[in-house]
Amino acid sequence: MNESDRPLPPPESAPTGRRSFLDWLLGFSAFGTAAAILYPVVHFVFPPPRPRGRDKGAVLAAQTSELAPGSGKVFPLGTRPAILVHTPDGKWRAFSAKCTHLSCTVTYRQDMDMIWCPCHDGHFDLTGKNVSGPPPRPLPEYSVVVKGEDVYVTEEAQRG
Ligand code: FES
Repeated sequence: MNESDRPLPPPESAPTGRRSFLDWLLGFSAFGTAAAILYPVVHFVFPPPRPRGRDKGAVLAAQTSELAPGSGKVFPLGTRPAILVHTPDGKWRAFSAKCTHLSCTVTYRQDMDMIWCPCHDGHFDLTGKNVSGPPPRPLPEYSVVVKGEDVYVTEEAQRG
């Protein structure tokens, strides 16, 4: 029996296992790198829909059916309270709900058709002007946009 007739030894499994692990690791790294590059690109090209309730800096304050003429509601505008008023003549107005005296939260008084501060009996008319009591200044007014059934209020102050 000469040297070339001897059977070859079985291939060692350890180098093959290590090589396949490294191949898998390299493939996984390549996939991770591709995903890290493509995800922001896809997110930019196909942005997720805006959450309901916000529209270009506006906050969904109410549905039109929610407030009859001559009513109002306090709602959160960012981190501060705001008040949305549907005036008896059908106009929508929004103001900061922080009283200009000592920052109590004002409310709409249907019996007086006024914005009223319960802390020291301050009164504001439906344009936000301070008309009686200790408040020294009008309430800052916000912009209101009605789109179909939705009433949006923007955080930008119109005055004040
Ligand atoms: S805090 Fe509103 S009247 Fe004083």
